[in-house]
Amino acid sequence: MSGHGNDRQDAPGIAQACGDLDWAFRASENAVILLDGDRRPLLANASAVALAARALPGEGPDELLALLPADAWEHARDSGRWAGEVTAASGMVLEIVVRNGRHDGIDRHLVICEDVSQRNAGQAELQRRHDELQAAHHRLAGTQEQLLQSEKMASIGLLAAGVAHEINNPIGYVHSNLGTLQEYIGALFALIECQDEALQAPDPAAALPGVRAQRDRLDIDFILGDLPKLLAESREGIERVTKIVQDLKEFSYVGRGDPMRPSDLHKGLESTLNIVWNDLKYKVRVEKHYGELPLVECHLSEINQVLVSLLINAGQAIDNRGTIVLATGAEDGEAWISIADSGCGIPAEALPRIFDPFFTSKPIGRGTGLGLAIAYSIISKHHGRIEVSSEVGVGSTFRVVLPVVQPTAGEAQAQ
Ligand SMILES: Nc1ncnc2c1ncn2[C@@H]1O[C@H](COP(=O)(O)OP(=O)(O)O)[C@@H](O)[C@H]1O
Ligand SMILES: [Mg+2]
Repeated sequence: MSGHGNDRQDAPGIAQACGDLDWAFRASENAVILLDGDRRPLLANASAVALAARALPGEGPDELLALLPADAWEHARDSGRWAGEVTAASGMVLEIVVRNGRHDGIDRHLVICEDVSQRNAGQAELQRRHDELQAAHHRLAGTQEQLLQSEKMASIGLLAAGVAHEINNPIGYVHSNLGTLQEYIGALFALIECQDEALQAPDPAAALPGVRAQRDRLDIDFILGDLPKLLAESREGIERVTKIVQDLKEFSYVGRGDPMRPSDLHKGLESTLNIVWNDLKYKVRVEKHYGELPLVECHLSEINQVLVSLLINAGQAIDNRGTIVLATGAEDGEAWISIADSGCGIPAEALPRIFDPFFTSKPIGRGTGLGLAIAYSIISKHHGRIEVSSEVGVGSTFRVVLPVVQPTAGEAQAQ
């Protein structure tokens, strides 16, 4: 190697070091070219010669330098270094670093080249696979959304007969009440007519007993007592229908992209109970032990979907007669709802599989095997959990636990 000062050459050990450096320079697998201040090549190692032959068939390492863009040297002079990628005529992509410096008062340039075609190809391949994975992820998210919706619709299908009954019942008595009200109004009109006639008679006082007799015949006292009751009952019936339709509408609502909102879980529990009520009321006694619940940050329509699944399962687990105990509470920044049934229970070997998609012990038409799988994914999305305990022949308890406030993105990642 040339270019080291005479003063240093005399120092012990330096000659040896230079020999070693010379060897290192030659042996380096990096293509290295050393140039003087006027960019005349002084030295090129074997790797540089080999690289030039591959990048520019028939050419030497000097031609590698010709690939550098015009401003590379200027940039290296000003800042001491330039680095970039260039493409040779052969298509090979080279990463080139130009170092500028002075050695013993003399300007030097060091150029290091590396063939990065492979690496770039690898990176492109990696990028392509990443894009593919991302597209697959988007497709899956879309499919999951559809699955969520179809399970929801399946449970509505399962409940449709019951819901229809729940709606028909009040509509039936409102209809019958309207018939009765029509009769009452007829009687009241008849009495008014009779009174009018009496008032217009030459001696109204003499007509009074006739009016009284008519009033007794028409059973007006009974009508006056019954009429407000009928009206109240009819109003209640209409309100009940309105409520069920509202709950159904809420339940089938797709809240895609909505932000989570502080929500009243008791309200959610009551409205889901309304939807499944007809399926339960003949065989199940429902007990409620509601505690104090703060508003919980969630997608309430999704939590309602979880509760509907759990309530349907609880009802289906009870064959003849049984009890479902609904309890709620909050502690340590978490709110919980538990649904305990006195049903058939879950065998120990099935317990680890109940959250698997399509795991069902029910005949077609009664079970899709998706209820708990979807419930699990909804609750995970809310950073909560579902706990299960069950004993065959005694019953099962499902407990949904949700954080009152959702963790921030950073906190969620650290979990
Ligand atoms: N409360 C429960 N009591 C007994 N078994 C239950 C209960 N909840 C869930 N399971 C079991 O878990 C399985 C999966 O439930 P789920 O995902 O809701 O699907 P499906 O109800 O459609 O079968 C059920 O088939 C049943 O075997
Ligand atoms: Mg189910």
